Amino acid sequence: TQWTDKERSMVSAIWEKINIDEIGPEVMARVLIVYPWTERYFGTFGDIFTTTAILNNAKVAAHGKVVLKALGKAVTDIDNIRTIYADLSRLHYEELQVDPDNFRLLADCIIIAVACKLRNTLDPQSQATLQKFLYAVVEALNSQYC
Ligand code: HEM
Repeated sequence: TQWTDKERSMVSAIWEKINIDEIGPEVMARVLIVYPWTERYFGTFGDIFTTTAILNNAKVAAHGKVVLKALGKAVTDIDNIRTIYADLSRLHYEELQVDPDNFRLLADCIIIAVACKLRNTLDPQSQATLQKFLYAVVEALNSQYC
């Protein structure tokens, strides 16, 4: 993926406005509530069987922060997204056996969580750039699936 200077600064600007400790837990809860089949991968998280349980589950919240922190690496090294996530792609494929369709669903939940938070600040151009960025990460997470 090629990035213009404008896209680079836009991705950084959006990321600076995101509070990982707030958006991370929200994103993970959204994924589990909106796409309930994703629950199957998180057998070690305890009770995630109702909306209330998901929203109050500390492991869900902590994992949301882990995922968002991992995305932060791509923000600061946007030209090496594929390299950065090669190991993570292998982990999700070989060990976690996550169906790769779910990566895009998680990316979309990030866009929605960010949109709820930033409101008008996330104008169409910013949304397009955030989506381009997240889909580049999705592509990288797909890269080791064979
Ligand atoms: C673990 C990132 C999407 C399921 C992880 C870890 C990271 C990560 C950094 C921790 C790896 C480690 O401990 O070494 C991401 C990113 C994603 C993504 C950046 C997409 C943007 C998904 C999706 C699912 C998933 C869509 C399933 C629906 C898991 C599971 C674990 C994990 C089950 C292990 C959790 C645990 O037992 O603590 N992921 N992930 N991931 N991920 Fe993902």
